[in-house]
Amino acid sequence: MAILKIARMGHPVLITKAAPVDDPSAPEIRRLIADMIETMEDAPGVGLAAPQVHVPLRLFVFRVPPGRGSDEAEDAPRGPSVLINPEVEPLGEEIRVRWEGCLSIPGMRGAVPRPWRVRYRGLDAEGAPVERIAAGFHAGVVQHEYDHLEGILYPMRMSDFRLFGFNEEFARAAEPQP
Ligand code: NI
Repeated sequence: MAILKIARMGHPVLITKAAPVDDPSAPEIRRLIADMIETMEDAPGVGLAAPQVHVPLRLFVFRVPPGRGSDEAEDAPRGPSVLINPEVEPLGEEIRVRWEGCLSIPGMRGAVPRPWRVRYRGLDAEGAPVERIAAGFHAGVVQHEYDHLEGILYPMRMSDFRLFGFNEEFARAAEPQP
């Protein structure tokens, strides 16, 4: 396994729409997934999409830390999870604003409005179908990672740039409320 170099905002791979994975069980895909999980855990981060490691394919890894799941999302996966060729569909009308960060925009965070509940589908690392309903943090991380496959970074989803800045600066003052 290897720790991969992470592209930062400004690199064209991050604003490129990624291509579907033809064969989820191909050895190079298995190796990529293992390396992405190692890279995410080393960073550390809660999600990493293939375009962030300069591979424009539709897959990402993520995790929902203990205590960050939602009561509405009983099926939040434990440990690192993989989603290949995913689809994400909002459930209901509710939009909430939550803080997000991104390994491609290090040291910063921003408040992003997103659907609170989603249904997502895709394939796992074995190529088996996955379908889950998610809310809160779990739904947010999946939508954030899915956006990477579309070439969208979280600042492109923001509506109030006063709530975008460096973590160190926010930590000095009372935290602004999204
Ligand atoms: Ni990101």
